[in-house]
Amino acid sequence: MPTSWEKQYAQRTQKMSSSAIREILKVTQFPDVISFAGGLPSPDVFPIAEFKEAYDVILNEQGPQSLQYSLTEGYPPLRAYLAEETSQRIDIRISADNILITNGSQQVADLLGKVFIDPGDKILVEEPTYLGALQAWRAYQAEFVTVPTDEDGMIPAALEEKLKSNPKFIYALPTFQNPTGISYSLERRQQIVELANQYGVPIFEDDPYGRLQFEGEELPTLISLDSQYHGEACAESYQGNVIYTSTFSKILAPGIRLAWVIAPKEVTAKIVQAKQGVDLHTSTINQMVAHHVIHEGFLNKQIAMIREVYKKRRDIMMQAMQEYFPASVTWTHPKGGLFIWVTLPEGLNAAELLKIAVDQKRVAFVPGAPFYPNGGGERTCRMNFSNATEEGIREGVSRLGEVISEQLG
Ligand SMILES: Cc1ncc(COP(=O)(O)O)c(C=O)c1O
Repeated sequence: MPTSWEKQYAQRTQKMSSSAIREILKVTQFPDVISFAGGLPSPDVFPIAEFKEAYDVILNEQGPQSLQYSLTEGYPPLRAYLAEETSQRIDIRISADNILITNGSQQVADLLGKVFIDPGDKILVEEPTYLGALQAWRAYQAEFVTVPTDEDGMIPAALEEKLKSNPKFIYALPTFQNPTGISYSLERRQQIVELANQYGVPIFEDDPYGRLQFEGEELPTLISLDSQYHGEACAESYQGNVIYTSTFSKILAPGIRLAWVIAPKEVTAKIVQAKQGVDLHTSTINQMVAHHVIHEGFLNKQIAMIREVYKKRRDIMMQAMQEYFPASVTWTHPKGGLFIWVTLPEGLNAAELLKIAVDQKRVAFVPGAPFYPNGGGERTCRMNFSNATEEGIREGVSRLGEVISEQLG
């Protein structure tokens, strides 16, 4: 008798689905399609020569070690580098024991799901929020409680109300959020850290874009504000209320799948146990190579170059929107990151618009509704400005402007 696969799947898979939008977006692989859909870095900024040289050096000098199994926690020199670099840059004391190296920040989301979420547990999220995190936590049967968000971040009074529902953690993207590009104000950052501590609910701060800032004042991370809030308790190493992740995906290359999580030591140890069951450890050779590439100040130079390239692309996209979009379309002005968030006029639906844009004009974006876990956002779109060329951005926005104008009649 053939297996009836549907009957064999675990209950948790019922919330896993592939979306109609993903099907439409498959066309973005075709060279004639201009895509603003993915969150892809520009291939023009990948440090290929540096990686080539680093693989060579590592294989020559530490060949057997680089190809061997290694520690779940991560390659010790890379952990030490991240502890020291982060401590200095964001003014907080982190020891290597606070840090675990992972296969991308996406794995951090999954591991936190494993460690914290029982079926039915509530997670407080921004509205809209990062789709990949929702995907990871749906598999653990989380319930998402959305916190109303404005251009300065989560609204504190609304957050306080929702904190009373005893959630497992708050998921926050305070800097150049995916999908909207907005950042929390300093006051909001302080209020949210304070509220979380007051209610004893941890914050998961996801910060892939913080270093890609194009303009304005650099604001403190939630973890650094939280460290100050805890004062003496965090004088030696971090022992606060925030679990923080950042990644090499947007500042080096996503293909190496390298990120890190910073948490109080006991939480890091728990996440290490979860990771052991998933993949034993992150790629040894990729950690050694990344460590070789970034040493001696390369990373800061690389980030400065990426900022320049992306700032120009953001400016071109915003200028093109001004030129080609009907006046009733509005959009955010991100001061960093990879995305602009567009709101269409009443009467239009972004998912329907995508279908027409792809079929008729060969241009793609991501409709915003899937970023709203409890529904809504049908008139919103996420536009990525890092991946297309400057000419591509102008041409793509112009084509999209034509589709919107036609739909408006
Ligand atoms: C907010 C956010 N978190 C996490 C990730 C995953 O990043 P990584 O490549 O490190 O897994 C992304 C990727 O786009 C993201 O935008």
